[in-house]
Amino acid sequence: MARIRLPRSSALFKEALWNQQRHLRQMTTPELRKEFTEFFVKDHGHVAVKSSSLIPHNDKSLMFTNAGMVQFKEYFRNPAVAPFKQATSIQKCMRAGGKHNDLDNVGYTPRHHTFFEMLGNFSFGQYSKAAAIQMAWRFLTEVIQLPKDRLRVTVLASDQESYDLWKNQEGIPEEKIIRCDEKDNFWTMGEGAGPCGPCTEIFWDTQNDDLGEDRWLEIWNLVFMQHYRNDQGQLENLPIVCVDTGMGLERLASVIQSKENNYETDVFGPLFEGLHKNMTDSGIESSRDINATPHKKIIVDHLRAMSFLIADGVIPSNVGRGYVLRRIIRRALRSGNQLGFTKPFMADLYGYLLESFKDGSYPELTERQDSIKGVIHQEEEIFMSTLSKGLALLEPVFKQKDLADSKQVPAEIAFKLYDTFGFPLDLTVLIAEERGWSVDLAKVEELKQKQQEQGRASWKATSSLVHAKAAEWKEQGVFPTFTGYHRENLTGQSSTVLASQSTDDGTGDMILSIEPCPFYGLGGGQSPDTGFVRLANGSEWKVVDVFSPYERGLAIRIQPASMEQESVTEEDLLCLHKGFQLTAFVDTKRREGVAAHHSATHMLNAALRKTLGKPIMQAGSLVEPDRLRFDFTHGKPISQNQIHEIENWINTTALQSVQPVIQEYPLQKAIDMGSIAVFSEKYGDVVRVVDFPKVSMELCGGTHVEDLSKIYPFKILSEGSVAAGTRRIEAAVGKSASQFLIEQDRMVTRLNQDLKAYATSAGNGLDLKVNKIKDQVADLSKQYSRLLEKMVKSPAAAPVQKGALRGLEADAVPVQIHELDGEILDQDYFSKKANFLKEQEPNAVHILIWKENMMVALVQKQFPTLHAGKVLKAVLEKAGGGKGGGQAQVARGKLSNGEEGLRKLIQLSTQSSSSSST
Ligand code: ALA
Repeated sequence: MARIRLPRSSALFKEALWNQQRHLRQMTTPELRKEFTEFFVKDHGHVAVKSSSLIPHNDKSLMFTNAGMVQFKEYFRNPAVAPFKQATSIQKCMRAGGKHNDLDNVGYTPRHHTFFEMLGNFSFGQYSKAAAIQMAWRFLTEVIQLPKDRLRVTVLASDQESYDLWKNQEGIPEEKIIRCDEKDNFWTMGEGAGPCGPCTEIFWDTQNDDLGEDRWLEIWNLVFMQHYRNDQGQLENLPIVCVDTGMGLERLASVIQSKENNYETDVFGPLFEGLHKNMTDSGIESSRDINATPHKKIIVDHLRAMSFLIADGVIPSNVGRGYVLRRIIRRALRSGNQLGFTKPFMADLYGYLLESFKDGSYPELTERQDSIKGVIHQEEEIFMSTLSKGLALLEPVFKQKDLADSKQVPAEIAFKLYDTFGFPLDLTVLIAEERGWSVDLAKVEELKQKQQEQGRASWKATSSLVHAKAAEWKEQGVFPTFTGYHRENLTGQSSTVLASQSTDDGTGDMILSIEPCPFYGLGGGQSPDTGFVRLANGSEWKVVDVFSPYERGLAIRIQPASMEQESVTEEDLLCLHKGFQLTAFVDTKRREGVAAHHSATHMLNAALRKTLGKPIMQAGSLVEPDRLRFDFTHGKPISQNQIHEIENWINTTALQSVQPVIQEYPLQKAIDMGSIAVFSEKYGDVVRVVDFPKVSMELCGGTHVEDLSKIYPFKILSEGSVAAGTRRIEAAVGKSASQFLIEQDRMVTRLNQDLKAYATSAGNGLDLKVNKIKDQVADLSKQYSRLLEKMVKSPAAAPVQKGALRGLEADAVPVQIHELDGEILDQDYFSKKANFLKEQEPNAVHILIWKENMMVALVQKQFPTLHAGKVLKAVLEKAGGGKGGGQAQVARGKLSNGEEGLRKLIQLSTQSSSSSST
């Protein structure tokens, strides 16, 4: 019997939906999360693993974590290293950059999101395809009780095993097992290397014929990891078949809650409620219909994405992840703008986001709420001015006549908007498209690339090669012990060569891993140690760089220490072989400087929180032996008073000789104790806490002073903006700061001498002198203005010529030529004099000559057909050349031939004077 199709708006259709709903188990998203986890943990012995960060820490090829398996990637390849055999997780995922990018679709389709949660179960060689299929089927049909007759599945055509397993599964008839090709049923992570394999997907029948292909909604993907695709694109077999599954929570919610649209589920309910309330409060009229425009969906989707990204430590910027975040925030704000918001509104919605996660699945949202709201709000404020600046630049483009045919925004303009104002390209495209215009994106991309390449080229050449080489060691299990936290290990520690390689870059340098390794190169903004190693044959090699090319890995780059030794000897090479002994010497002077600046960075972080009265977010840090650089989120400049307050607090604290307590703790304990952590860092289960008691406590792997007095004196060298919403402070401590202060002092001495400034009982000599000079200057400029005024108004010497000019727009134009005295005059005087002359005689065009300078001034009302600029041009032409231009009432130019020009000019108007009657 043919099914009757009902119009979706009809009462009958709604009733049919309702009927369907009645037969489904009523479940909320928190319940789905809970049941999913319990099913795999309690019923099937999986370990519940927390969602990893949205920033993948073990995968440089990915911009964002985009699937549950990302944090387990290594375990598929090498199940022996997995700490558990089977696991389940609810993973935060982002598909807004890189290969998986749904950003442009959000708002326009029922199911696309930038941020979503992925439910998954994983086996690292523990269970078979049969078990995976059976568990998925049981969860869907028994636990959440989806009707079996509304499910169907796909398998890879060549995967007979999966086909047979489904065939034997009770409740799924053979015609509902569809064989597909590799395009649909072979899962890979993306373009690069990674585990991959055939998959089987479970679909839900929405029973909505209107949707065509989309009637069948994919809800669960079970991947059988059988292969590893290597860098060359070849498939290697994995040692044992693993399982990776993924099911979108928002989709599943739409199924169980009988919604046609993910946005209509309880996931988004509180967010739309907040948005509507906010609109009403802002006086924006709006229906409660969420589907009437794409903008509401864009706002709620993007609010989730931006909040989770910031919670994981991403900060808006113009590159990489920071740029994706900025785009997301700005797209949301632009949507708000389209809805009618004229003031910041996103940060105010944050409370509703917390409400939508009130089951506490993501505690970071609550713990970091002040920072998250702060960053969003700040970006909103920046964007308000960006938007108006951007629009002001863009609007005239749409009116430009020479572009009217092509209707294309020039790439240079789009790039400038992006580069200078951080105006996202897609926003330019969006605004252009609203007017039926386009943007030459390929050309913009070229401009962007060109700029990036310039910056990147030099860095890349040196470091990536070495990293790539050292990464091979990881495979061989080269994991040295870092012993450089203790002073006694820094000079003369004996170590064994674990691995060595030539850099093969023509420098003759080698890279080396030694056990134990006292050289610091663990990151965290701290610049690496230098020093030297003495080989078994007595020759010395300089340590020029230290890096950690992989987790728990340390490698040093060495080069022959002296010129005589520049060509590497066979004997040296032998001594650099695995197993040979050498002695290591860290440059302790440099290390001391670095340690002082690192401890000072912690102090600065603490002081900023105190002084600015809010948790700032660290956006970058660089610690060197003679200075430090600290970037953090803050929307406005730090005032002089605040700078003094920060310096005072740090210097006073330093003089109290506080000593750090450095200890390891379980991560949660460290956080509970109040340690400051950088959200974007990945910390292990056990973390190192650097605690200057009662002053500052931070998670940190760096090296520090043994006593804070070492950071005295502390001096801020500069404060400024590095990017919208991000400030940078540079500072120095100890010897470097003293050096800076001494130089400042010398400058003061020099100024004292130059200005003959002497201290008196009334105060510091320089202060007194500068104040006096300021007063004098103010006095003089007042006198000067008065004098100028007087000269301007003093009765002018008679015009050297009165006459008429012909050949202009008007018949005979009365003209007065004035030659000004060339002594003390400046441009200001020139203009003022012209105005004065016009006031005196509005019925003539005035030509003022001062040396070779010339000015034409006229009163527009009296000469409506004349334009001073054009008069000037015409006159100059006749008077024998020169150039100039100007506005309707005043124009400036230069006579190219001075006296001679003036003479010609006078002649010119004399000739016409017979017919003039001024
Ligand atoms: N990793 C698989 C996916 O993302 C489950 O679909």
